[in-house]
Amino acid sequence: MLIRPLSSGDAAAFCFLQRSASQQPPSSDEPIMSDMYVRDADESCETLRSTAIRSTFGAFNKTELIGVASVQCHAIFEQRYVAHIWGVFVARHHRNTGVAKLLLAAAIAYAKSMQDVTCISLSVAADNVAAINLYRSLGFRETGSIFDDPLHEDVLQMGLFREATDAFDSATSLPAR
Ligand SMILES: CC(C)(COP(=O)(O)OP(=O)(O)OC[C@H]1O[C@@H](n2cnc3c(N)ncnc32)[C@H](O)[C@@H]1OP(=O)(O)O)[C@@H](O)C(=O)NCCC(=O)NCCS
Repeated sequence: MLIRPLSSGDAAAFCFLQRSASQQPPSSDEPIMSDMYVRDADESCETLRSTAIRSTFGAFNKTELIGVASVQCHAIFEQRYVAHIWGVFVARHHRNTGVAKLLLAAAIAYAKSMQDVTCISLSVAADNVAAINLYRSLGFRETGSIFDDPLHEDVLQMGLFREATDAFDSATSLPAR
């Protein structure tokens, strides 16, 4: 399996994967990805345009894009200590084989390469057991929650901190399965 940063040339494959994420059958027990993840080609190109503070990583099975994860360091100078991970998704037929762990290892390594970053944060639906276990297995810990917000599902905030050196370092040295 290949993990690499995506570029605008991957926009069509990225779009296709995002669409499949938002079209889960109603009987599925996994969370339905919200519409914010559905992008047209132009929007995908913009998302995939790596900058000095942002990258989207893709996992490839041969030439097929099977998983994605994005990471962005904070653009505001005063908040340059925080990087955010978002848009983590693995195609259903490729789950439970370590794809998400490898994608997150790449995203965490990217954030760690930013000298000022001391915390990597993310948000996850409070009932998304698979994702919460995934993040915990990489050393993320709950830092807060948003409950009873009528506009949103209950959400957990999680963080990985540089001072927790062991977790911060070991999260990026995972063997491929
Ligand atoms: C959550 C998701 C990204 C996991 O991807 P994956 O490639 O299957 O995960 P991995 O194989 O790398 O598993 C890593 C760890 O996650 C946890 N995990 C993964 N799937 C799980 C499941 N169904 N139930 C419980 N824990 C699970 C485990 O701790 C696992 O480690 P282990 O195998 O050593 O026990 C995938 O299920 C997915 O795309 N779900 C839909 C989108 C989504 O919820 N994204 C997260 C939004 S915050």
